Amino acid sequence: MIKGHISPYHAPAFIPEALAKGRHRAIIGGRWEETGNIQMEMLLAEGLRPRHTLLDIGCGPLRTGCRVIPFLNPGHYWGTDLSGDLMRRGYDTELTEADRLRLPRGQLVEDGDFTFRGIPCEMDYLLCFAVLTHLPMNHLRRGLLNITRHFTRFEKLLFTVFLAPDAVASLAPVRQPDGVVTHDTRPPYHLLAGDVRHFCAQAGLVVELRPDRLPRGQVLCVARRA
Ligand SMILES: C[S@@+](CC[C@H](N)C(=O)[O-])C[C@H]1O[C@@H](n2cnc3c(N)ncnc32)[C@H](O)[C@@H]1O
Repeated sequence: MIKGHISPYHAPAFIPEALAKGRHRAIIGGRWEETGNIQMEMLLAEGLRPRHTLLDIGCGPLRTGCRVIPFLNPGHYWGTDLSGDLMRRGYDTELTEADRLRLPRGQLVEDGDFTFRGIPCEMDYLLCFAVLTHLPMNHLRRGLLNITRHFTRFEKLLFTVFLAPDAVASLAPVRQPDGVVTHDTRPPYHLLAGDVRHFCAQAGLVVELRPDRLPRGQVLCVARRA
């Protein structure tokens, strides 16, 4: 962790320095092909089809976008991120010209607060992959509450978290199945399955925590309106 910041992405120099060195893939954790493909397969398994609209929350430099944009009907992909520059780097370097024609630049919206300003209120799928894993727990609450306040209709919200086995175990570092070590008060953060269910219920959502593990040991949570 970069001291004094809730996540590395919040340290003012972190993203600009990485972009200056051409390291946009590395700062979102690398494993570009593997993780991008897994997200694509996960979306297909959850029923995403070309006719659907998708909002990729915390989409970064379009690791998933570069795979899902050619699949979806033109204009059906939207992305948000804390960093507009990171999204624009992905737009300029990771998309083909044909992909760029399918995605108006204005559909990549800078938003580090889960406010979703400027995003349509109806969306079929919402994805938030490897974002909440870098943020303290109240961001999950804020994200979920703002999702159910902003989006009047959506089919599924897919998000990932790291879990600790129980409350006492959460106080110490937890080694996840993929080897990543997570923490309660610094990133990458873990929380309890009960916390996820509680925050979802507060936001009017029911959630299923999938038993299989994603890259780095993340758990896929699939939420719908209760
Ligand atoms: C590990 S990367 C994952 C990127 C993308 N979801 C993927 O899996 O390819 C985490 C991303 O979350 C973004 N981020 C961090 N905090 C955020 C926040 N509060 N709101 C929106 N995006 C955020 C970062 O800028 C970064 O692009």
